[in-house]
Amino acid sequence: MAKDRTRFVCQACGAPHPKWQGRCDACGEWNTLVEELPESRGPGPAAKAGGGRRLEFVGLRGSAPPPPRMEAGMAELDRVLGGGFVPGSAVLVGGDPGIGKSTILLQAAARVAAAGRRVLYVSGEEAVEQVRLRAARLGLSDSPMGLAAATGLRDIATSLEGESEAALVVMDSIQTVWLDALDSAPGTVSQVRACAAELIRLAKTRGFALVLVGHVTKEGTLAGPRVLEHMVDATLYFEGDRGHQFRILRAVKNRYGATDEIGVFEMTERGLVEVPNPSALFLAERRGNVSGSAVFAGIEGTRPVLVEVQCLLSPSAGGTPRRQVVGWDSGRLAMLLAVLETRCAMGIGMNDVYLNVAGGLRIAEPAADLAVAAALVSAATDRPTDPETVYFGEVGLSGEVRQVSQAETRLREAKKLGFGAATVPRRAARGNAPPAAVPGLTLKEAGHLADLVAEFAPRPKAAAAR
Ligand code: TYD
Ligand code: MG
Repeated sequence: MAKDRTRFVCQACGAPHPKWQGRCDACGEWNTLVEELPESRGPGPAAKAGGGRRLEFVGLRGSAPPPPRMEAGMAELDRVLGGGFVPGSAVLVGGDPGIGKSTILLQAAARVAAAGRRVLYVSGEEAVEQVRLRAARLGLSDSPMGLAAATGLRDIATSLEGESEAALVVMDSIQTVWLDALDSAPGTVSQVRACAAELIRLAKTRGFALVLVGHVTKEGTLAGPRVLEHMVDATLYFEGDRGHQFRILRAVKNRYGATDEIGVFEMTERGLVEVPNPSALFLAERRGNVSGSAVFAGIEGTRPVLVEVQCLLSPSAGGTPRRQVVGWDSGRLAMLLAVLETRCAMGIGMNDVYLNVAGGLRIAEPAADLAVAAALVSAATDRPTDPETVYFGEVGLSGEVRQVSQAETRLREAKKLGFGAATVPRRAARGNAPPAAVPGLTLKEAGHLADLVAEFAPRPKAAAAR
């Protein structure tokens, strides 16, 4: 058997390397290799030893009821979880420092505890007094949950073994826990992996729902343990701009529910407050009759969300024009600018372009193309979009506007929020899908980006200036 030697493990992807190097061969990240001692080996390939039990393969049809749910009592959180915590499952909650992970989990834990269940909150980052201060601020001091400050996995595991009643256990954060049998520092891949594996094993055997808090690096991925995402049943990201009061909880993986589901919260003096109608909130500060603004009718998970896309153009000071994008994909913006330039003769490309999705939401849907294009054309022509109109549609490379899913849901949300019109993709001539009409909403169909440009000035200023 090979002698146990130290090895170097990439903290981003977990790939082992025999010696130190500046860049990980597996994932290409720089400066992520850290020396770690090998984990102790198991008994080796089990098949050689013989004596394994033969598996019994079964059919797909079964009669097991769906997993029971333990509602957190916060509708926004429950929706993202797919209906509540699942006993025996593990959820990873990631997010930037200070975004509110500890706050939301303390609030959720208190609600579950208030429903008469045994809830344990283990804080590895903050002392008991600090958590108590937060609880006092949130008005939760009387919550019957159990609180402990600990980082040693042995102590935590022993305590949890003795808790037969525990229904929910929060570990804040997994990076602070360490196992003394490993020589690596807390937060390294082998520590995090070993500690998480042990806690998850406990959750499965004791039947409690486990929540692990994970830190996010500057690059926006869960620090070190991307490996952790594979081990848990659900991964939630808590996003938002710390300058904004809105926080968005997003499911990126969920074995027990839909992904891409979002929950919207507002950070207030007394903790996180749910926002049941995010569209109204995202549009609250919108001003009509300003050029460079368009409302996108989007879908986040199962829910329609209307947001304002804002765009500002300013003449470039020379050199490469700036592209500053918040809340959207900058590659997608470059594509739209190229399509507008090449297919619609809109010479925006020489300007600095600033694009912002108001309210701190990050949009991933290609359906936002048409709204972004409308904001761009509006800014370039200095003509406001119709404040009563929403936009959605994907734009292809030849400038064609493509159909997107759930048109009717988007339109109904627009109607609900008082919009009177929508610019939507033109229906394919031979498509026999019924028009997604909503009474009281006028539809303007755009088959090509040029149709959209024609809505604005006949002679765009930017194009004329060239
Ligand atoms: P916290 O939950 O500690 O963040 P994380 O665990 O993700 O690092 O949130 C801390 C921030 O939230 C801090 O900047 C203060 C703010 N906050 C409020 O605005 N209101 C509150 O009621 C609480 C408890 C925190
Ligand atoms: Mg915290």
